Amino acid sequence: MRKSFAAVLTSLAAGIVLAATHAEAAGVKIGLSLPTQREERWVKDKLTMEAAAKKAGVDLRVQVTDNDASKQVAQCENLISQGIKVLILAPHDASSASVIIDKAAKAGIKVISYDRLVTDSPLDYYYLSFDNVKVGELQGEFITKKVPKGSYIVLAGSPTDNNAKLFREGAMKFIKPLADKGDIKIVMDQFVKDWQPSEAQKLCEQALTANANKIDAVLAPNDGTAGGCIQALAAQGLAGKVPITGQDAELSGAIRIVQGTQSMTIFKDTRKLGEKAIEMALDLANGKPVDTQGRTVNNNKKDVPSVLLTPFIVTKDNLDKQLIESGYLKKEQVYRK
Ligand code: GAL
Repeated sequence: MRKSFAAVLTSLAAGIVLAATHAEAAGVKIGLSLPTQREERWVKDKLTMEAAAKKAGVDLRVQVTDNDASKQVAQCENLISQGIKVLILAPHDASSASVIIDKAAKAGIKVISYDRLVTDSPLDYYYLSFDNVKVGELQGEFITKKVPKGSYIVLAGSPTDNNAKLFREGAMKFIKPLADKGDIKIVMDQFVKDWQPSEAQKLCEQALTANANKIDAVLAPNDGTAGGCIQALAAQGLAGKVPITGQDAELSGAIRIVQGTQSMTIFKDTRKLGEKAIEMALDLANGKPVDTQGRTVNNNKKDVPSVLLTPFIVTKDNLDKQLIESGYLKKEQVYRK
């Protein structure tokens, strides 16, 4: 069928744009420094950015530090010495990573703080993440609606991760007023070292023992720590009886939601975040401005211009829609026989 003249023009134009983008991207070196590959979402972030970089013709140099702040500094020095134009940085330790911003600035390299904010730097850089206070609000609203009265275990993520503070801030907007009223009794309020599931399990075991298993709800900051807590609850025959939050839409989290031992998770589409990071990095490499629509997040020293994507709550009722139909997880993996 003969293509209309307009259609020919459109595909020509698209071809020209793609060629132009490829020309702009060709050989541009971009550095990517990730904190870990322990959690499923970081594995997906890395794969997404590698695929987006390849598609755009970007030379992406990747380094992963397994929750080691000083190693991350050394790895970023290495990336800087390789001649990168932009650094995409997800810090293990928010504050100590500010030295990386210093080193990048001295080398004329632009930085995108990815998912987690680097804090305490007065220098110019961008922040790309999800609305993390909103994540906490979704968790806090859900659990206080489900358990408006009773004894709570409140866990937060790693103390070195600025996100852990933002999630907790959002959740406490719902939990604290009820605690102040005396409806909720917070029997434990702890940050979990390096987001480790085993640490969360230990903390939950301590709280269950100290309160003779009289626990009515658990605020777990992500699916990994929720999994640890559910192990502790299961050992006391309480799995599925005590509502518990999560985050990250991990496969194991989705399976627990279907089985009824975990009550919810938060879906943050890391595919969108990863693709946006490569797009932003390319724009910065080509001296193009980044549209933050005036949004900022404070890093204790300044308001950092930020691009924040939307998180979504996932329960048994909308799991198929949010996670299966979107292609984030596979039906046969979640609904295993
Ligand atoms: C946070 C991240 C969460 C979770 C956690 C553990 O910074 O936003 O999605 O994965 O780290 O790695």
